[in-house]
Amino acid sequence: MNMCDLIVKKKRGGALEKEEIDWMIRAFTDGEIPDYQMSAMMMAVCFVGMTDEETKNLTLAMVNSGDMLDLSEVRGIKVDKHSTGGVGDKTSLVLTPLVASLGVPVAKMSGRGLGHTGGTIDKLESFTGFSTSLTTEQFIHNVNTIHIAIAGQTADLAPADKKLYALRDVTGTVDQMSLIASSIMSKKLASGADAIVLDVKTGDGAFMKDADDARELAKKMVNIGKLCGRDVTAVISDMDQPLGYAVGNVLEVREAIDTLRGHGPEDLRELALCLGSYMTVKSGKANDVEEARSLLEDSLESGKAFHVFKEFIQAQGGDPEEAEHPERLLSARFQEEVFSPEEGYVSDIHTEEIGRICLLLGGGRETKESEINLAVGIVLHKKKGDAIKKGEALAVIHADDRALLEQAKERLIRAYTFVRQKPRREPLIKEII
Ligand code: URA
Repeated sequence: MNMCDLIVKKKRGGALEKEEIDWMIRAFTDGEIPDYQMSAMMMAVCFVGMTDEETKNLTLAMVNSGDMLDLSEVRGIKVDKHSTGGVGDKTSLVLTPLVASLGVPVAKMSGRGLGHTGGTIDKLESFTGFSTSLTTEQFIHNVNTIHIAIAGQTADLAPADKKLYALRDVTGTVDQMSLIASSIMSKKLASGADAIVLDVKTGDGAFMKDADDARELAKKMVNIGKLCGRDVTAVISDMDQPLGYAVGNVLEVREAIDTLRGHGPEDLRELALCLGSYMTVKSGKANDVEEARSLLEDSLESGKAFHVFKEFIQAQGGDPEEAEHPERLLSARFQEEVFSPEEGYVSDIHTEEIGRICLLLGGGRETKESEINLAVGIVLHKKKGDAIKKGEALAVIHADDRALLEQAKERLIRAYTFVRQKPRREPLIKEII
């Protein structure tokens, strides 16, 4: 086969055959196809698109480019969860011990934060000693005993996607639906789950700013799952303001602990219950989402979910006392309030900017290699629809550097928009696909 012929075929609107996609992905992963040819192919795909069949074949070719996690020794139906990423999105910290507390086996591969969005692994590393580098034996043992293990993604899981994503990132070819859907789903399928619940976020703080784009991406991922014999549900959720109030690693961990103890913000609790209900039904632990929700609510209220969280932290080398006393987790040197310049109601929060302010403070990664400061971030006091008086606190900034703190304060005020009339509240859950 010849890569140039395939590029021309795609450029002219053709659909690539399975054998062509398999060859292209194998040869690219092995270094036989140079980056410049693959970049040309990715750009052609951006203009011409891919059929459902091509998208499925691309996904499977990337799955087959590396190892599949063998979870056959895990007892029960394994259900994974994936979020397309947002600001203040600490849902997995609440959701995973919550469903595990009902006996749903959670065998999860998670990632680190990049850009304005955070990652579960960074957040969990707020606990002293916590490790996500588990051997396969430890991973499976933990899932079989306490129903939960979370590991960092290994390099041999869908390596073609890793190489291709790095290339797309620097050639302006990330934002193509089939490429995004196949990239996400290849990692999920290689992680060995029987069923998957996707949290596809839409709004200013999300990857998909536009609701129609989010719906299209969700449909593509659900369809890939169907074509590959996996049971996939997508929940489209709002990211037009941060989830909960806390943005920044340790701050988000504290909020997740509050939620597991029954005092967290309503939107975080609601999203965890919604995603958790679908996961519970897929795993066969409840007959329908209503029954699942009631079991999950009981688990939150009785403290069972928080107990599993502490067991999980301990099983992966962390100190469960820090979960019991989250004030012992790292704290930033400065904590200063930002005051409202206006009176009225909050009509908008520039959510991506909130994520970028956290990045400015050192709480996120500009590049994969950046070091992060787990303690810094922002705790909002006001969200959309809230009434505010002039001079009342909008948020508290947690910073380790005084100059960055001052910049963050100025940018935070500009991220808020105020109106005189109380605005309508948008629903958190927009659609289930
Ligand atoms: N996240 C991924 O994993 N892949 C993409 O292509 C985009 C976002």
